[in-house]
Amino acid sequence: MKIENKVAIVTGGGSGIGEAVSQELAKRKARAVVLVDRSDRAFEVAETINAAAGRKVAEAKVGDTTDDAFRTNTFDDVVARHGVVSICVPAAGITRDSLAVKINKDTGKAEIYPVATFRLVADVNLIAPIYWAIEMVARIAEDRAKRGLKRWEPQEEVQGTVIFIGSVSSQGNKGQISYAVTKAGLEGAAATLTKEAIFYGVRCGIIHPGFTDTPMVRAMGEEHIAKYVLPYTQLRRLIRTEEIADAICFMISNSAVSGELWADAGWHPPA
Ligand SMILES: NC(=O)c1ccc[n+]([C@@H]2O[C@H](COP(=O)([O-])OP(=O)(O)OC[C@H]3O[C@@H](n4cnc5c(N)ncnc54)[C@H](O)[C@@H]3O)[C@@H](O)[C@H]2O)c1
Repeated sequence: MKIENKVAIVTGGGSGIGEAVSQELAKRKARAVVLVDRSDRAFEVAETINAAAGRKVAEAKVGDTTDDAFRTNTFDDVVARHGVVSICVPAAGITRDSLAVKINKDTGKAEIYPVATFRLVADVNLIAPIYWAIEMVARIAEDRAKRGLKRWEPQEEVQGTVIFIGSVSSQGNKGQISYAVTKAGLEGAAATLTKEAIFYGVRCGIIHPGFTDTPMVRAMGEEHIAKYVLPYTQLRRLIRTEEIADAICFMISNSAVSGELWADAGWHPPA
């Protein structure tokens, strides 16, 4: 699928991987790239992208991806002004790391991972990305129905691509009970949407990045990274955001690629 002249929505576009993907889509001549983020930083990122591109390609929409009205209003506005969205990279995500069970040394009682925190992580990392993806598929389906088109045929161009952002943590990671579950859950979403959405010509894949140099990973602290990340990464460095962005654009533009892509720099954690 050609990226050139397409309209893209990238959630989490105000930082890290989402920012790098937005930049790369603009470089590859997307018509419009909408950076969705709850942080105002998305405005600055969009300006920087536009300055580098020498045209107005990026714009920011600030809001919470878990807010259904924000999602539908964003699509309504973007579709009205730019046309059908055909690239969706729902990258907004959070971590709330803690062991599933911890013994409180003073009381001897077991403390369990708070269910409210689990629900928050599931809302942001699992349910919201799925609904941003489904929203795009729904708009494409409606547009096709309006044009009298039914099942997508291979002579047509691919109509859209969703790339979910998984993680190496989807295979399990100490201290990440909620995060790991959401990332593993996205695999099920990608596998299901792949089967359903191709009816409308939409492909769906998932990339599993390893530890990438973003504010999310830097927040773990230099010591943690040096002790627990770099020794178990074959490249012995953090992955650059532009490397993940390049891999995502490869997945979007090469329609023969399906399923999962591991971009983990040779991550081989101890048991
Ligand atoms: N950095 C890594 O090593 C790594 C590895 C694997 C997967 N990932 C995934 O990549 C994605 C991007 O992570 P990152 O490392 O770039 O993190 P980041 O913290 O740099 O960026 C995440 C962005 O998402 C936004 N965001 C979070 N919750 C939101 C919400 N509810 N509504 C709107 N915006 C929201 C934040 O404001 C932020 O700008 C996440 O899904 C993360 O789980 C990151």
